[in-house]
This record gives sequence, C-alpha cells and structure tokens, in this order.
Amino acid sequence: MDARVRELPLRDFSRYIDARPQDGVLRIHLDLFRDPELFELEMRYIYERSWVFVGHAAQIPQPNDFITGVVGRTPIILQRGGDGQVRAFINHCSHRGATVATTQAGNARRHKCPYHGWMFDSTGKCLQVTDEALGGYTDAFRRLSHDLPQVARLEEYRGFFFASLNPDVMPLREYLGDAAVFMDSWIDQSPDGLEVVRGDANFTYGGNWKMVFENCLDIYHAKTLHASFGTMVMNRVKRQGADENRSVDLNNFISAEAEVSYYIFPKGHGGMWLRGAGKREDRPSYAMWQEMAARVGEDKADMMVSGRVVAIFPNILLVESATFQMRLIRPVAVDKTEVYAFCLAPKGEPAAARALRIRQYEDFFSATGVATPDDTTVYERVQQGDQARSIEWNQGYHRGLALLRDGPDEAARRIGIEPLHSISGNIGIQGEAVYLGVYQGWLEQMQRGQAQLAGVQA
Ligand code: FES
Ligand SMILES: [Fe+2]
Repeated sequence: MDARVRELPLRDFSRYIDARPQDGVLRIHLDLFRDPELFELEMRYIYERSWVFVGHAAQIPQPNDFITGVVGRTPIILQRGGDGQVRAFINHCSHRGATVATTQAGNARRHKCPYHGWMFDSTGKCLQVTDEALGGYTDAFRRLSHDLPQVARLEEYRGFFFASLNPDVMPLREYLGDAAVFMDSWIDQSPDGLEVVRGDANFTYGGNWKMVFENCLDIYHAKTLHASFGTMVMNRVKRQGADENRSVDLNNFISAEAEVSYYIFPKGHGGMWLRGAGKREDRPSYAMWQEMAARVGEDKADMMVSGRVVAIFPNILLVESATFQMRLIRPVAVDKTEVYAFCLAPKGEPAAARALRIRQYEDFFSATGVATPDDTTVYERVQQGDQARSIEWNQGYHRGLALLRDGPDEAARRIGIEPLHSISGNIGIQGEAVYLGVYQGWLEQMQRGQAQLAGVQA
C-alpha cells in the first residue's frame, strides 16, 4: 500500500446506490452530485484508474498536430508525431512544471516551455535544457530523463483514442464491450470512417459531470425542456410545408408509433435506439442508405439512420437526436463541468447531406442552437435544487424499471449485441431505468479503485 493514500477516507460506496430492481426501486444518493470529497474520490478511482476518452484521430490528422486535454486532473497532450504515430504525454514541464502546450489544439514540431524555455519535440523528447552548458549542473541531474512522461496507456478504437494513467487497466476493447457496436453504427456509415466538421463549441456549466451523462440518455425531458425547438420546427412546417422542412421533428420522437430500446452494458455504458421515430429521409446519412445497406446489411443500415445514443462511461457521449454530436466531458469540480462538443460526419457524404447536417447541427446543438442552452441551464437548476441537504434521494430513475429484462431484446439480437439488460417498448416509457447500469458501473469502479489503491477489500 502506498503510504500517501492510507489517509484517504475509506467509504462504503454501496450505500450511495440503492438498486433493487426486483423490489421496484432504483435510487441514487444526491451526494454523488454535491459532495466535494466524493468528487475527489471519483477522480482517483474512476478518471485516474480507468479509460478516459481523450480525442478522435480526425482532430489530429497531420504530422505534429496536437490537442490538449486531461485524464482526471492530469493535463495531457495527444499528439501525432512527425513519424505519424499518435502518443499521449503529460503536459508538465520537467523543469518546474509549467504546461508546455497552452492551446486547445495546434500543430507544432516543438513545444517550447513558456517559463524558462526548455524545448520538447512532438514525441515528448526533451531537445534542450536552456543554457545547459553554463548551468553548473550535476551528473545526477544529467542522468535524469527530462522528457515529458508518456501517459501509462493509450489505445485506439477505430479512431477514438482513450488513455489511462493505470498501467494495469484492462484492454480497451474489453472495456468497451458491445457498446462498441453502437460506435460502429456511426463509424461504418462510410467505408472511410468519420471526420470532424470544422469548428467546435465548448461550454462550462455549474453542475456535476454526471448530469450531462444522464441527460444524453434522457428523452423524457425533450417534450418539456425542448418545447421551444418543437415550436420552431412546427412553425417551419407551417411556413414551408412538411416536405421542405428538413429539421428532425422532435414531436415525432415522442409520437405513439415510435419504439425505443435501452441497453445496459457492463462498465457503466448505456445505449438507446429509437425506431420508427421521424422521417428517415430527414437524416443526412439517409442519402447513403442503399450503399450502407449493401455493405453492412439492412438491420445495421436502419440503425445508422435512426435516433440513437451511446454513453461510454465516464466521459464520451455519441448522441444522434436532432443530429449527431460527439461530446467529451471534463469534470472540473463537483459543481463545475466543461463539455467539448464536435460535429462528426461520415467521410465522403454527398454535399447536400453535409449541408443538411450542418444546418441541423446549428439548429439544435451549437452555440446558435435552441437545445443546448436549455439543457445547460437546467443542469444548474438541478445542482441548486440538490443542495437541499435534508433530501437524500431523487425519484427520477424509476421510469421503465418495470420493463427491465435480462439480456438482449429482439432489436439487439438483430444487430448482434448482448447487453446485460434491455428495456424496450413504446417510446412513452422513456426508460430512465437505463441508469441502473451507469451507476452499477460507477459503483464497481469506485469499489475496485479503493480496493486497489487503499488495499481495502471491495
Ligand atoms: S518550467 Fe519549463 S522551462 Fe522552467
Ligand atoms: Fe436536451
């Protein structure tokens, strides 16, 4: 046991998750959203022990392209070296600790530390200790590596890079499990994979990181919180006619004909797949439906033009509601979260489809969008409401719990996935019970992290 971690407060994390589906109960303790010490433990036991999404290959397509980010609290640089290989190293100058890359993204053959000028190449190797010859350095100093340390593990799943500070973390593919099939449903839209449409929109909200994770799997709020979007689309239909309006109609999302499946995967990942909701032709990817169906089969091609979400615990969301967005979650404090949002698109999609994609993205998600500000504002309201310390539990995880069943449903079998549990039926179920898996994943990782770091049996 590391003497420094012996002082950590030991906790029985199971008392925060009241998951008794057999008794019809699913409750998550509000301290998960408001206790700063629990946030600290989440950083240590989840974000700094498990896999964390750090970026997509399409964000760094050229040699020497880089992006900066964090794994837990550790600042990192994800860079494609001059040799074309992608590496993750710690953004911490070995001299006195300044971050050597200070922008969110860029292209640099070298990083010059802004403090005293030590220089590092695009693989993290130290090229120069400023004025070393004059410095009166000792042999002990010269024997030190001055390079930027590599992050312990970096693995890629089809363009999606994940990093871990834990050298003993399980293989990424095993961590993703069948949630990867949802990722494939975007990646395989084009034989050439995905690209990032230029531009990104980042925002910070005054709430816990799990609020945006929960929200992406939540259709229940669309009718109420996004009523303004629904009204906007309705007005367009009135003005332009239903055939001309190409916005994805959220009113259709909650129409009686739609069916929905929620899937609970191991490790805290959750999926949602809407079928028969809205017009498939309104999805930009529908322009490629025939080619996709010939290549991957009709069931998977149908999935590719459906509303769907996959939330990969703990920090990446792929959301196709009104259009497709990738979000990277960066927790800052128990009540402060940054979200980095990207418009991804299949490479080589027809120009008209790309234009439609961008217009739909602007409508709903982007800085100009009608939905994101509503979601962000409501997280802050929840954070405020959850400060009521006399209240320990919310009731909001019960919808669909009576429909929870073990294993795959019919739709899951068609695409060859084996979730732990499925919840499916008419869209009206808007199944909140999918959070069962999210918080079981949370609990497992917290218990395992504590067991490994503090030498306590889970
Ligand atoms: S802190 Fe980087 S050169 Fe001094
Ligand atoms: Fe929303």
